[in-house]
Amino acid sequence: MTTVYSNPQMDDETRRTELYRGRVLVFPASPASRALIEHAGVLVAEAFGDLDPELAQFVMPVEEFAGVLADLKPKFIHHPTSKSLIRDLLAEFDCDLDKTYFDVPRMRTSTSNDYLSTGISYAFHPHRDTWYSAPFCQLNWWIPIFPVLPQNVMAFHPRYWDNPVRNGSRRYNYYEWNRTSRATAAQHIKTDTRDQPKPEEPIELEPQVRVVPEAGGVMLFSGNQLHSTVPNDSGRTRFSIDFRTVHLDDVVSRTEAPNVDSECTGTSLRDFLRARDFERIAEDVALTYEGKQPAPAFT
Ligand SMILES: [Fe+2]
Repeated sequence: MTTVYSNPQMDDETRRTELYRGRVLVFPASPASRALIEHAGVLVAEAFGDLDPELAQFVMPVEEFAGVLADLKPKFIHHPTSKSLIRDLLAEFDCDLDKTYFDVPRMRTSTSNDYLSTGISYAFHPHRDTWYSAPFCQLNWWIPIFPVLPQNVMAFHPRYWDNPVRNGSRRYNYYEWNRTSRATAAQHIKTDTRDQPKPEEPIELEPQVRVVPEAGGVMLFSGNQLHSTVPNDSGRTRFSIDFRTVHLDDVVSRTEAPNVDSECTGTSLRDFLRARDFERIAEDVALTYEGKQPAPAFT
């Protein structure tokens, strides 16, 4: 069973504990989350000019649309304001900025009617982020930029929270993936040939849980949840922001969601930046997490 809490009043530690148990939490839009979607909305509006970004797919050739996203998405990811607004949001959620680390926020799109569902606007098949080398204490934050509908959000597949799925994660090494595949996302317009960890058995998509937050609403869930992009037949492109966090104490103490089926190697921990000052997570923390010994310091 997956329980969804609406606007729970919990301290950060309790919240993390609930998320590691498979709960999903959803919060209303707040000053910091509104600032984040406004910032994203300005970049989206600049990218699409006179067109309504949610409807632009109906008047643009798909290659052109993919090109717009290929400029827009990195601009949002690397914009210094994006990072500082995430810090503001984490502070607003009473996260400890010295121990909470986040990776850069992504902007995601889900186009309607199978217009573009590969590469730069990838429609995610059911997966756990932990199949992609996410740490088991990773929490995902998901925020719609514009109003969303049940037909263009994402879905959880709760029966798999504590049931394994045969999957391709054993072939996935994070360092290898970064070296070869990620940079080419925008080139995959018609098909996506990159070998991503996928289920290797039929998935029962029902029962599924779809949460429909308001624009700027914040949904929080464990990166170990089996989740997917729903087939979008809403007639509108969905624009959303997501980012991930880890808490240093949980990384070190292995306080986390249970691993039921992930066999990938490598860890994405080195992508995470300390919320206070954007310092990268310490190498010895990442090595210890991987079960490797830090190199001895030279004296
Ligand atoms: Fe995911």
